[in-house]
Amino acid sequence: MSHATLVRNGRIVTAGDDFVADLLIEGGRIEAIGRALPSGPGMSVHDATGLLVLPGAVDVHTHLDSATPTASTVDDFAAGTRAAAFGGTTTVVDYCTPPPGASLMAGLEDWHRRRANACVDVGAHMIVLDAGAATLAEMKTLVEREGISSFKFFMAYPGALMLEDGALFTALRAAGALGALSCVHAENGPVIQSLVQAALAQGQTAPRHHALTRPALLEGEAAQRAIDLAELAQAPLYVVHLSTAQALQAVQRARQRGLPVHAETCPQYLLLDDSVYAGEGFEGAKYVMSPPIRHASHGVALWRGLQAGDIQTVATDHCAFTYGEQPHGLRHSKRLGLAAFNRIPNGAPGLETRLELMHDAAVLQHGLSLHRLVDLLATAPARLFGLFPRKGTVAVGSDADLVLFDPHERWTVRAAAHHSLSDYSLFEGRPVTGRVKKVFLRGQCIVDGPHWLGREGMGQYLSRAASG
Ligand code: URP
Ligand code: ZN
Ligand code: ZN
Repeated sequence: MSHATLVRNGRIVTAGDDFVADLLIEGGRIEAIGRALPSGPGMSVHDATGLLVLPGAVDVHTHLDSATPTASTVDDFAAGTRAAAFGGTTTVVDYCTPPPGASLMAGLEDWHRRRANACVDVGAHMIVLDAGAATLAEMKTLVEREGISSFKFFMAYPGALMLEDGALFTALRAAGALGALSCVHAENGPVIQSLVQAALAQGQTAPRHHALTRPALLEGEAAQRAIDLAELAQAPLYVVHLSTAQALQAVQRARQRGLPVHAETCPQYLLLDDSVYAGEGFEGAKYVMSPPIRHASHGVALWRGLQAGDIQTVATDHCAFTYGEQPHGLRHSKRLGLAAFNRIPNGAPGLETRLELMHDAAVLQHGLSLHRLVDLLATAPARLFGLFPRKGTVAVGSDADLVLFDPHERWTVRAAAHHSLSDYSLFEGRPVTGRVKKVFLRGQCIVDGPHWLGREGMGQYLSRAASG
């Protein structure tokens, strides 16, 4: 592609460094880092004086253009990745869910069709719904030929996505032998199902019963079970969207024993508490996701876990639906569950606000360093999911995915100003300090303040290496 680009005089912050310099970008990669680099004819020059220059953020947990038999997420790859870019995320690793009865390869082909209009670079994790011989053989092909080095196994949603323990163990063993990372959704699905049926039988249909029927204990129990099974299977483990003190303790115990167990949490579990479900109205449906938003005491534990290094990544679990039915239709709307909480589509938007919210909350309010912020949102996810050092850092030879960030600008989160097709934000009205000003994808400026300069389809598929 393109002519050279110079980013002048920014404060470059990586997981390990912090210095003021210029960056020369050529052929989509960082060519040189230094002081007073000369500009040449035809170069585009961007002045980053007073701004942080961060690596493009890496979000390793999204569900774009993802359908169940009854509901479908509202953000396709074009809309979701454009929203990502406006929030400083230039790499997304999305969960590919094979349709019921389809092979993993057929699911992947379909995913590639859907991701073709992505605006930032995308990789895929594969969701595994059974552990039969054909599936295990396909897992090997995915790792060796398709650049998919991580799988997700559900311990929740029995009858739909869940693997029972025997199948989970078999799949973990296969993933471990392939050098792949096993991502688990740790909630005890069958016990939750029993609690849901009991609640419905008593006429408890409001959204808040979603949270009441998914107690914290059942995440802690499942996380410990996943860790035990992964240890036996000799499989490195990554606990996705960890939301409770109990699950965190299980991860901490495992890590103290030297087991390769990693944890991801999400801004919603750090910044919100279960008061979002108060009331009998339908407003709580906006927050219906699994795991649910927890009591504030869990948030306190998660912040300690981040400070202590027991949680390695912060991703979004962006799985966007609308609150209202129009203009996108009932299939994309939380209103599918007006009659009963268990029919509310699970998930919420978040791709666009992760970096800015976490800068404000982690750095300014909880005293984490900028290095740690970069590590949690870019470097560690890139490393864990086989993308480092191409992604996740600012270094000579890395892709020139960059965020120019003003750490002082104050603004307020408003869904009306977002680029997601969802009509609400979990963080509506929240004051935030720190704002994305410009975003570069492989050297191309794709976001300049409020202006979109990118293009649908410019996102490349990321064939990923093994974790680490
Ligand atoms: O409620 C959620 N989190 N929906 C997305 C699917 C998942 O479990 O990650
Ligand atoms: Zn999940
Ligand atoms: Zn998810």
